[in-house]
Amino acid sequence: MKIVQVASELFPYIKTGGLADAVGALSSMLAGHGHDVAIFLPGYRSVVDHPLAAGAQRTLGLRIEMGDVFMTGEVRSFSPATNLTVHLVCREEFFDRRNPYGTPERDYEDNHHRFIFFCKGVVEAMRFLELRADVVHGHDWQCGLLPLLLRHTEQRYGVTLAMKTVFTIHNIAFQGVFPMRAFYRTNLPDELMGIDGVEFYGQMSMMKAGILFSDQVTTVSPRYAREIQTAEFGCGLDGVVATRSDDIVGLLNGIDTHVWNPATDTLIPGNYTVDNLAGKARCRVDLLKRCGFDPKFTGPVFGMVCRLTEQKGIDLVLANTDFFQTNDVRLIVLGTGDKQLEAGLRDLVAAAPGRVVISARLDEGMSHLIEAGSDFFLMPSRFEPCGLNQMYSQVYGTIPLVTRVGGLADTVVDIDQHPDVGNGVMFPASVEGVAAGLARAVALFADKPLFEAARARGMRKDFSWEKTARAYEDLYEDAV
Ligand code: ADP
Ligand code: GLC
Repeated sequence: MKIVQVASELFPYIKTGGLADAVGALSSMLAGHGHDVAIFLPGYRSVVDHPLAAGAQRTLGLRIEMGDVFMTGEVRSFSPATNLTVHLVCREEFFDRRNPYGTPERDYEDNHHRFIFFCKGVVEAMRFLELRADVVHGHDWQCGLLPLLLRHTEQRYGVTLAMKTVFTIHNIAFQGVFPMRAFYRTNLPDELMGIDGVEFYGQMSMMKAGILFSDQVTTVSPRYAREIQTAEFGCGLDGVVATRSDDIVGLLNGIDTHVWNPATDTLIPGNYTVDNLAGKARCRVDLLKRCGFDPKFTGPVFGMVCRLTEQKGIDLVLANTDFFQTNDVRLIVLGTGDKQLEAGLRDLVAAAPGRVVISARLDEGMSHLIEAGSDFFLMPSRFEPCGLNQMYSQVYGTIPLVTRVGGLADTVVDIDQHPDVGNGVMFPASVEGVAAGLARAVALFADKPLFEAARARGMRKDFSWEKTARAYEDLYEDAV
């Protein structure tokens, strides 16, 4: 099949979260299975400057209609692997910036223009580069308008660019909602401004457009597919999602085992397998040293790697400061984002001296070392569409401590509820829930046979992308 993937992030070129990992791994898998895969990505500064994109060549000049003006840009393309082409939709005014979506303080004010331009650029590139796709698969709100723009262009020029469109919701909390006046930039028919179109409480919602107008909608875990049809998790779009409930399927993300495998990982100081954990002990010592802790510390080490946002339940950990004051444990947090949460974590460091460190930066190497060197991985998310770190931690022999939501509930089995097959600790997303989870972890750490059994079960799990990529292929084929 000829498959076009469209996303605002792609590992290893630009990543703020799991979206980049998921789109990168899925695309490589599909190309590996012999499909012809083209990926469209905004030509952000960091991507254009990325050494792996050094071979990118201009393949098309763009002149995009944006309301009553035309904006120019260009497409640069390169092929990082067999069957795989990456097309960068470039316009310096929009994408030659330090970050993909905004500064740490706020989103860029022209994000609607940036991503309308991006989607239109994709459609124009498909038209002029004569990319006739079986499937065009867009990810998250940044690509929400794509099916409408695609069909509109097809009608206007009497061409077929895509047999089917697929839209994946990676996180329904981010919806791309903008003042309705931005809509005229799309040049789409006015009737789409209504309630059966993009209208969302008087504004325009790009996520809503993707959900309503794609042929098939997917999300990243079976449980999240059900959750987003409820008021508790739907972020106001539950009613819209429910109208597509027959066409929504939850396909669990996997792990890119070329990147995340403790036996071959080049970013950690010791490699290991379930049968020989000596390398994991080395990682633990190295992690403790690098965090300024005594490497001979023998108590439990907790790791966290995440965006600092309300979603990830950092505040629930902060509300448990007393746990870190009364228990001789270590907590290592790697994360960037909300400045207030970062300040809260610094307060926790001060309140439990010598026990907690926070590293507020993006650090791929450190994220691997935390997965490998910790005993427990803490992920108290309020909601989690899929979550990747709880899967990484299992194969790295680090026991996940998670809330019972979304992809966490689909990938972790509680050890108390299922002593024979359990491999993690699950708790409600509340201050008391996290307190109970942390206490259970300390008890589990003291019970070495149970701890080791749980760890080994996690390490033996198969989270590879293979199965999920096949499921997407089936879905594409059904769609076509
Ligand atoms: P989300 O997409 O909601 O952020 P996921 O669990 O799906 O959550 O994916 C997060 C990804 O981002 C993981 O690969 C994680 O290791 C990575 N990550 C998050 N914060 C950092 C950081 N500060 N440094 C390096 N990697 C990070
Ligand atoms: C989103 C979600 C996360 C998921 C990732 C990749 O960022 O928050 O749970 O794993 O997308 O699908």
